Amino acid sequence: MADGNITKDVMYDAVAPDDFESMLELDRYNARSTAFDKIISATHDHFWDPLDPKYIDFSEPWDMETQALLPDDQVMALGVPYVLDHLEKTGQKVKFINEMVLWNFSSILHGEQGALNLSASLCHVLKDQGAQEYAANQTREEARHVTAFAKYVKARWGRPRPCGATLQQLLVDIIGAPEVYKKIIGM
Ligand SMILES: [Fe+2]
Repeated sequence: MADGNITKDVMYDAVAPDDFESMLELDRYNARSTAFDKIISATHDHFWDPLDPKYIDFSEPWDMETQALLPDDQVMALGVPYVLDHLEKTGQKVKFINEMVLWNFSSILHGEQGALNLSASLCHVLKDQGAQEYAANQTREEARHVTAFAKYVKARWGRPRPCGATLQQLLVDIIGAPEVYKKIIGM
């Protein structure tokens, strides 16, 4: 169904976040969309466990004082000769790179937490069971991402850096938004 501006599919039908009564409508149970079934099943084929060292071994040693986590050419600031020169002369290059990586990984960690809460919030508003199962499944996947990034940050630095104000406001807005399109685009 199209209204001239947007295409609307019944699987994106949504209710208000506090309207649980609508979930109990009897006709809803027999009207489950199968649009997401392949993606949901694929989770089992691509399963991974951040708590199992066979997937990621967080105990692998790394000397944060002497080993840079990224090569120079992947750190944009080091493309400025003055910066590179100064850091090499003062022996601070490794420290600088690893601190930049901490800020990046902290942002990713906060973003993964946002994705977890956003996916969970989609479960409350999506009306179609298939879409809801997809969101629940995605919530589980994002929870694994949070676990993995939190464990990595803990292993290398001990503690993440705070979420930037702009990212934080975006996450707060889309997680709290009652409109399903804002959540989906946000995700
Ligand atoms: Fe994620």
